[in-house]
Parts: sequence; C-alpha cells; structure tokens
Amino acid sequence: MSAPVAPVAIVTGAGGAIGAAIATRLAEAGHLVVAADLDQVGAAATRAGITTGGGRADACRLDVGDQASRAELVAGVLDRHGRIDVLVNCAGILRDARIGDLTEQTLLPTLAVNLIGPLSLARQVIDPMTSEGGGSIINIASRAWLGIFGSASYSMTKGALVGVTRSLALELGPVGIRVNAIAPGYVQTPMSASLPPQVVRRSVNATPLRRAGNPDDVARLATELAHPQSFVTGQVIAVCGGRTIGQPGMAEGTAS
Ligand SMILES: NC(=O)c1ccc[n+]([C@@H]2O[C@H](COP(=O)([O-])OP(=O)(O)OC[C@H]3O[C@@H](n4cnc5c(N)ncnc54)[C@H](O)[C@@H]3O)[C@@H](O)[C@H]2O)c1
Repeated sequence: MSAPVAPVAIVTGAGGAIGAAIATRLAEAGHLVVAADLDQVGAAATRAGITTGGGRADACRLDVGDQASRAELVAGVLDRHGRIDVLVNCAGILRDARIGDLTEQTLLPTLAVNLIGPLSLARQVIDPMTSEGGGSIINIASRAWLGIFGSASYSMTKGALVGVTRSLALELGPVGIRVNAIAPGYVQTPMSASLPPQVVRRSVNATPLRRAGNPDDVARLATELAHPQSFVTGQVIAVCGGRTIGQPGMAEGTAS
C-alpha cells in the first residue's frame, strides 16, 4: 500500500532559530517540510534534524530577496513534491539604524527580504494551494510592527507585512487560503543576540510573563495556524508574553 500523501509546507529561513523550530513542529504534525534558506548549511541541518526524528523533509537554497531564486524554489517544490499546502515566510533580517544613519544600502535589502520576498512567494503559491482546495500562509512579522526606537526600516517592513496579511486574507479567503501573521516579541535567537543586555533586561522586566520568548513558542502557534481545519484568518497574533498589552505598570518593582 502506498504512503498517504503528506501536506507540503515551505518554511523560509528554516536554517535560523525560529524557522527551524517551525519546520520541526510542522514535520511532527505530519507535513513534508521544505526547509529553504540562504544558509544552505543551516537548512540542511534542519532537514537532518527532522529526518533523524522520523519526519519527512527536503532542504534547498533560497535567496528570498531574489525573484529568480523564489521562482526556482516554487517550481522545484512542485516538481519534486507535486503540491504546496503551507507557506511560512520566516526569513528575515534586522539592520537597525537610527533615522540619521539610515541609507538605501540598508533599507533596500530589508525591504526585499522582509516584505517583497514574502509577498511575491505568497503570490506564487496561490495557484498550487487553490488546486488543493486551499492552504495556509503564515507571515512571521514582529512586535516591531507597532514601532521600535531606532528601527524604522525593520518596523516599516513588518508593519507592511501585517497590511499584506490582512489584505490577502480578504482576497484569498473565498478560495480557502488563510493568511495570518505572528508577531513575536523578544525571542532568544542569533538575530536578537546583537541587542545590548540592558535592552533585553528592560524588555523582560516589561513583559507580564517575565521571560524572553523561545523559538518553540512561535512554532506551536504556527502549527495551529497551519491546520487545515483552522477558522482563523487575517489575524496578527502577538507571541510576546503579554508585552504588547500596554504600558508596564508605574508601581515600584513592576518595570524598569
Ligand atoms: N528573534 C526575535 O526576537 C524576533 C522577534 C520578532 C520577529 N522575529 C522574526 O522571526 C524571523 C526569524 O528570525 P530569527 O530570530 O529566527 O533569526 P535567525 O537569524 O536565526 O533566522 C533568520 C534566517 O533567515 C535567513 N535569511 C536571511 N536572509 C535571507 C534571504 N535573503 N533568503 C533566505 N533566507 C534568508 C537567515 O540565513 C537565517 O537562517 C525573522 O523574520 C525575524 O524578523 C524575530
């Protein structure tokens, strides 16, 4: 008897911390995962982790900021696996700069990787998802979409990604494609390792749950949003330990 057909999930940035956790959880939930990343070694390590654990995975190189590379990814996945059910746009870059130091050299790559790439990939998976009766697109935004001091370019791309999410949910709902965004707060990963310790301390102190996030906090929600029976679309869900609720308390000891 042949094996049942597994739903196919593409995870960009799957060589990174949050992407690897999402890829691993989706594989545990029965997806065949395509781990795509500019960092081929990282993508291969994610694939190896999944297959060693008994899951199904493939790995490939992707420069999400490059049109030809995006087209090659989608064509390759359809060629090798025949379908696409889930797209997780997780690849991202952070090039912090105060407005006086912002140049097109930092702005344009951030736009290409964090915004144009995810939007373009979403566009390319519409037809394959529609022919399977629907699918799920999950955009990894950031709490930064609300605005972050000294991070206008990153915030701009994550805010725009939220707009893309809500607009596409309206357009694609009728063909069964759900589109959601996850907005993590501070998560301990190589990307956030560049933040000064005092910034991290302030962030954790201002977080009601009083801890930093970890990649699996994001991955568990992504897996739920990928579920074909989900009734959730067009949402921006904060995974931030409550940091996004409002201002920290003014009473002594509640924040610093
Ligand atoms: N770490 C946090 O605190 C945090 C908070 C909110 C949102 N996020 C978002 O979560 C996502 C994952 O971040 P992370 O913390 O795991 O960082 P990470 O640096 O561990 O992973 C990012 C991955 O994206 C890949 N990547 C970069 N440019 C690429 C390109 N052009 N094409 C394909 N892949 C590319 C990198 O190689 C890396 O593997 C990002 O979109 C980030 O903005 C992170």
